[in-house]
Amino acid sequence: MDLAMTDKKAIVTGASEGIGKAIAWALAREGVDVAICARRKEPLEAAAAEIAKATGRKIIAITADLTKAADAENFIKQAHAALGRIDILVNNAGSAPGGVIEHLSEDDWASALQLKFMGYVRCMKHVLPIMRQQKKGRVVNLIGNDGVKVSYWEIAPGAANAAGQNLTKSLASQYGKHNISFVAVNPGPVRTERWTGLVKAMARDMKLSYEDADKLAPASIPLGRIAECDEVANLVAYLASDLAFFVNGTMIEIDGGQDKVLMDRIRDR
Ligand SMILES: NC(=O)c1ccc[n+]([C@@H]2O[C@H](COP(=O)([O-])OP(=O)(O)OC[C@H]3O[C@@H](n4cnc5c(N)ncnc54)[C@H](OP(=O)(O)O)[C@@H]3O)[C@@H](O)[C@H]2O)c1
Repeated sequence: MDLAMTDKKAIVTGASEGIGKAIAWALAREGVDVAICARRKEPLEAAAAEIAKATGRKIIAITADLTKAADAENFIKQAHAALGRIDILVNNAGSAPGGVIEHLSEDDWASALQLKFMGYVRCMKHVLPIMRQQKKGRVVNLIGNDGVKVSYWEIAPGAANAAGQNLTKSLASQYGKHNISFVAVNPGPVRTERWTGLVKAMARDMKLSYEDADKLAPASIPLGRIAECDEVANLVAYLASDLAFFVNGTMIEIDGGQDKVLMDRIRDR
């Protein structure tokens, strides 16, 4: 399918690795110029160079820590100046500490909201006036199925996700009249660079072997495996295109039909 995206301009946050990098790749393959950010300069610039070389698109790398309001503003300003317009914003940089209520500190709760929710708020705050002026824009928010499929082990990510999902729907109802549409994408577990570390943490916290911890997530998914980054990226590229512009104020799960309760039951054994 031709997504008809040639020469569109996009921003993807947290795109030096993982799902964000796969999204920047997928968009560039469709002919989109992309501005990407992350905190660490070296992997960010390496990702930009790799994608630009393979696709021939303009990939702009700008370091930013989206937990800082000034960095978010500077990233959007610089990206806009370099690209000339912003057709698509993909909010992706976000993580929140897992664990149960007894182990989560005040700082854990604050950090859960600081990047995964406030990072998205900050970028949208600076991009929306630009999209309004253009009289069109598309926002895709990478959130997570923890916001709708609850797990007592993922309550901090769950809270940050639910807040982001609420915000996505609220802004859709406010900005429709400006021809700006919004959609949330809710992945379940995805194989990223962080996955091995997450499984190690699960094994430690649940006193399981690494091998047993690694079976937990697939056991909760009818398809028997976790997602690959490209599967999420392909969905995001389609949703970012005009073909899906009318998919607005809603959320799409990409989690293989995961049943989170199964993971909690296995943990409780
Ligand atoms: N992986 C999963 O299983 C999964 C499941 C559900 C939802 N999600 C969601 O999908 C999105 C992507 O997840 P992921 O696992 O691929 O990536 P991630 O580990 O959350 O993020 C990786 C990217 O974000 C950048 N980043 C991290 N902190 C940042 C900050 N403060 N400011 C700017 N950039 C920052 C990283 O580079 P630096 O470290 O250099 O900053 C890297 O480029 C996240 O929102 C996540 O919550 C993931």
